[in-house]
Amino acid sequence: MDSVSSLLESIEDVGRDTVRGGYSRPVFSPAELDLRSWFEQEARRRGLDVETDRNGILWAWWDVDGADRNGGTRDGALVTGSHLDSVPGGGAFDGPLGVAAALAAVDLLKERGVQPQRALAVTVFPEEEGSRFGVACLGSRLLTGAIDPDTARNLKDPDGVTFAEAARANGLDPAHLGRDEDALRRIGDFVELHVEQGRGLIDLDSAIAVGTSIIGHGRWKLTISGQGNHAGTTLMEDRADPMVAAAQVILAIRKTAATTPEARATVGRLQPIPGGTNVIASRVELWIDIRHPDDATTAALVESIHGQAQKAAAFEGCTAALTRESVSGTVTFDGELQRQLQLAIPGAPGLPTGAGHDAGILAAHAPSAMLYVRNPTGISHSPEEHVENDDADYGAVALADALERLL
Ligand code: GLV
Ligand code: MN
Ligand code: MN
Repeated sequence: MDSVSSLLESIEDVGRDTVRGGYSRPVFSPAELDLRSWFEQEARRRGLDVETDRNGILWAWWDVDGADRNGGTRDGALVTGSHLDSVPGGGAFDGPLGVAAALAAVDLLKERGVQPQRALAVTVFPEEEGSRFGVACLGSRLLTGAIDPDTARNLKDPDGVTFAEAARANGLDPAHLGRDEDALRRIGDFVELHVEQGRGLIDLDSAIAVGTSIIGHGRWKLTISGQGNHAGTTLMEDRADPMVAAAQVILAIRKTAATTPEARATVGRLQPIPGGTNVIASRVELWIDIRHPDDATTAALVESIHGQAQKAAAFEGCTAALTRESVSGTVTFDGELQRQLQLAIPGAPGLPTGAGHDAGILAAHAPSAMLYVRNPTGISHSPEEHVENDDADYGAVALADALERLL
């Protein structure tokens, strides 16, 4: 059996970001493609049958002995997996830990002589982070029909490449993107193991937890338009500077979230256009990530922030327009599946999360659940994200125990 740490070591040089630190592995970048090849190789080494579906999701199948795989015997399979793409300058574990643990769990099940009574698949979902095309969990949203394929085809990356173009360049037919009934029928249960992205497990003093829920979250793009002009010749009173309005909006967002219990709101990406030191920007685009356990409160936060943005923009002689990029309501994971995981991993506490996952999208279509592995820094979406080797291996054992019980 390969340890989870040795699997992760074998990809530790892929997609390192020498500028930001950590890893940048956007979907369909050379780094993410290398990781997909690595996954295919590792899966084949284990005798799994690897296929890529029409939405670019990788499936590695362990079929029931003697089953005719074209005869519907993959329907209702037990599915586990995660993603290999990353945020810009992300950690080594967000995504790859779940994929490596799934491969290690297959090794363990084989060592134990387990004969699956239903098919088992290890999956890799593309663009979970939405770091290239803006919509998180794009692969699972396409699979389930949670995003309209036309909308997905027209998503653009920062260089103006559409998702349709990127998909075509990577062997997918953009016309065939979208809800996939055959693939959905194959998901009997879905279990995703993931690095914990906060300090929940540190506080609980536990190496592993069973996911209970994901708080609702979404992304909005705010465009503030003003008057581009010369930094030296434009008097202060003559300006319509969208950067100044953006600064007011960012402070208002922080204040609004800080005064709403359980809310989180973030501006992590901002683009002044054209972006010159001696140029008053003509336009500023910024992206707002808003999260709250109560979906109605999330909607109210968005409305409030939109109103404050319009006011701040008007005060600076600018205009503001808000567009929604993606929204996921609060998800509670399947109660029976949670119970089964807790029986398989005695003592594992339940833990809610503020992070989004493909399991949250799939939960609307099949019983879905998650396992979290302790992150001793409590930091994620950053190079400081960490998992100790022993905890990673314990995670694979816990996942194998859970899968064995569910098979
Ligand atoms: C993904 O990790 C997210 O929560 O945005
Ligand atoms: Mn992430
Ligand atoms: Mn993730």
